[in-house]
Amino acid sequence: MRVELAYEKMMAAWLLENVTKVDEESKVCLLGLVSMQYYFAHMLLFEIGSVEAAADAFRMVDEHSGALHPDLLDKAAGYGKIWPISADGLDSLRRALLRASSGGGRGGPERRRRFKNAFGLHDEDWSKVWGSWRPRGDPLEPLSRPWGAAQSGAPKPSFRVFVYDPDSIPALRALTRGGSFCKHNQWGMEVALHDWFLACPCRTDNPEEADFFFVPHYTSCLINHADTFEGCDTKQLCGPTTELFQQVLSSSQHYRRVDGGRDHIFVWGSGMAADGPFATWRDWVPNAIFMMTEPELWNPYKEVVLASYTPYKDILVPGRITVDDMIGLGKMAKPVEERSVLGHFIGWPRPPHPSVMPPEQCQNSSCPLNVRSVLLAKKGDEMLHVDVDVPYVESFMGLTSSLFCFVPRGKSAWSSRFFQTFFAGDLAQFLAIAGDHQRCIPVLLNDRYEPPFGEIVDLPKAVIKWPMTEVDALVDYLKQLVVENSDRMVELREAGRELRCWYAWPPSWVEWSWLEMNKSEFNKTCQDWHLKNAYVAVTRLLATKAGRGRGRFYWPGAVSEALETPGAL
Ligand SMILES: *[C@@H]1O[C@H](CO)[C@@H](O)[C@H](O)[C@H]1NC(C)=O
Ligand SMILES: *[C@@H]1O[C@H](CO)[C@@H](O)[C@H](O)[C@H]1NC(C)=O
Ligand SMILES: *[C@@H]1O[C@H](CO)[C@@H](O)[C@H](O)[C@H]1NC(C)=O
Ligand SMILES: *[C@@H]1O[C@H](CO)[C@@H](O)[C@H](O)[C@H]1NC(C)=O
Repeated sequence: MRVELAYEKMMAAWLLENVTKVDEESKVCLLGLVSMQYYFAHMLLFEIGSVEAAADAFRMVDEHSGALHPDLLDKAAGYGKIWPISADGLDSLRRALLRASSGGGRGGPERRRRFKNAFGLHDEDWSKVWGSWRPRGDPLEPLSRPWGAAQSGAPKPSFRVFVYDPDSIPALRALTRGGSFCKHNQWGMEVALHDWFLACPCRTDNPEEADFFFVPHYTSCLINHADTFEGCDTKQLCGPTTELFQQVLSSSQHYRRVDGGRDHIFVWGSGMAADGPFATWRDWVPNAIFMMTEPELWNPYKEVVLASYTPYKDILVPGRITVDDMIGLGKMAKPVEERSVLGHFIGWPRPPHPSVMPPEQCQNSSCPLNVRSVLLAKKGDEMLHVDVDVPYVESFMGLTSSLFCFVPRGKSAWSSRFFQTFFAGDLAQFLAIAGDHQRCIPVLLNDRYEPPFGEIVDLPKAVIKWPMTEVDALVDYLKQLVVENSDRMVELREAGRELRCWYAWPPSWVEWSWLEMNKSEFNKTCQDWHLKNAYVAVTRLLATKAGRGRGRFYWPGAVSEALETPGAL
C-alpha cells in the first residue's frame, strides 16, 4: 500500500537509480533489494499501467534474482515467511510484462502502434518479418495496414499462437520455474522462445482462433541443474517431468483438437532432446512441432536409438550464447595475420552413440568414429591447437586465434561451440583494432548434424562439413585452402558474418543484458538485429507449417471470418 512512498524514498534518499550503488547494496541485502524492485515493477505495471517503466524496474529483478536457482531463491525467502517474494511470483510478473509489451499501453490501435514490443519490433517491422512469406495464400501486395497487437480489432498475422499459461496450470508452473536464471545458459532458448511468443503480436489469448499451442517449459535447464526433479540428471529419462507433461496435456482443453498434438509446439534445448524430459512423448504428442537443438542421439541414453527430431515437422534451432559471451569472444579476437594456428579443438574424447557401435570398442584414435580422439592424437603438430582438460579460457583463446575451428561430434551432435565460432572476433573490429578481425571458420566433423536454418541461409558458403572418418586428409586440405585459395577464405568468413545474426537470440527488454547489448556495439555486428535473428528465423519457418484450413471448422459467414477482417460483416 505504501509502495509509491517507498519508491520515492528509494530513488531520492537512497539513490538507488545509481547502478553502482544498487550493485553495492545487492551484496548487503540481495533479497531485500529484489523484493523492493519486484513491488516497484508490479506497481508500475498493474497500477500505473506503464509497461516501459515496469520493464525498467524488472531488469533489476532479472539481474539480481537471475543469479539464484529458483529453488534456492524460495529457500532464501523462507518460502514467503522471510521475504514476500517467490520464484513463481517473479516468473509470473516477467510473463505479464512480456505479454503487455505486444503493442503495449492503453488507448487503442493508434497509441499501441507507437510502441515496440519487448524484442524491439515495431508494427511496421512485423510486416517485414513475414516479408514474402504468405503461407495461407494472402494477396501478394504489401500489407496495407501495419498490425501488431494480439488484441481484438487488430489485423491478423499469418498465424496465431496460444501460449499455455503457467499461472493457471500448476504442473506447467513446475516446469517453467526460474526464467531469469535459466535463460543464462546454452539452453536458454527454452526461456527465450517462451518470451518471444508471449511478446509476439501473433499471440492470441483466444484458443478458438489459435493455429498453434505453445507449451513452455525449462526442463533442459532444470534437469541439467540436477536438484529440481528428484532422481533426474542428464543420465536417465526423467520420470517426474514426464509425469508433469502428461498432467499438462490431460488437463488441456485443446490437446485433443487434432491428432497427436499436431498443433502443439515444444522447445527442447539440450542433447537430451524430447526423450529425457518427456519420455512418453511418442505416445502423447508424436505429431507436435519441436523446436530443438539436437537432430541426433544423446550418448548417455543407450536405449534411445531413434532421434526425437523429425525433419519434416520440426525446426532446428541454435544454442543460446549470452551477450556477455558474445562480447567476451569479440574482445579476445586476434587479427587474421596474427592467427598462427590452422585449426583448434579443445575437449574430451567421445565414442559414438552405442547404437552405432559399442562404446568400449571405440575409445581411442584407432577408431575413426571417435573423431575427437583422432583430432587429439594430432597434438604436437605445430599448426594445430588441440588439447584436452585445459581451462575454459584456453578454449576461448583458441577460438579467437585460429583460422579454422573444428566442431567434432561430442556426447551428441549439437554443440554450442559451433555457434561460438561465429562470434569470436566480431566486436574487435569495432574497438578500432587494426587488421582483419574475423572469426574462425567452423569445420563440422559431425556427419549427422544439421546446422539450423538451412532453409533460409546458404550454409555451404559459410561452413565446412567434412566426413568424420577422413580427418587425416582434412588437415592437408585446409593447409592447401589457406595457401592457394585466400579468396575462398575471405568468402567463407564473409558468409559467416551474414549467418551469425540468424544464430543470435538477443535479449528482450525485460532482461538486464538488454542494457549491455544496447551499450555494446552489437548493432554494428548485426545491424538489423531485431529483424534478423533466431526468433525471426523460427517464426518464418513456423509460418510454413500454419494452414488456415487445418484443424478447425469453416464455412462462409462463420464468426471467425468476421473477426478476421474488421468491418466485413
Ligand atoms: C553512484 O554510486 C557510486 C558508489 O556509491 C558513486 O561513487 C558514484 O559517484 C555514483 N554516481 C552518480 C552518478 O551519482
Ligand atoms: C585402442 O582401442 C582398441 C580397441 O578398443 C584397443 O584394442 C587398443 O589397445 C587401444 N590402443 C591404445 C593405444 O590404447
Ligand atoms: C539504448 O541506447 C540508446 C542509443 O545509445 C540510448 O539512447 C538509450 O537511452 C539506451 N536505452 C537504455 C534504456 O539505456
Ligand atoms: C548502435 O548502438 C550505439 C550505442 O547504443 C549507438 O550509439 C549507435 O548509433 C547504434 N548504431 C546503429 C547503426 O544503430
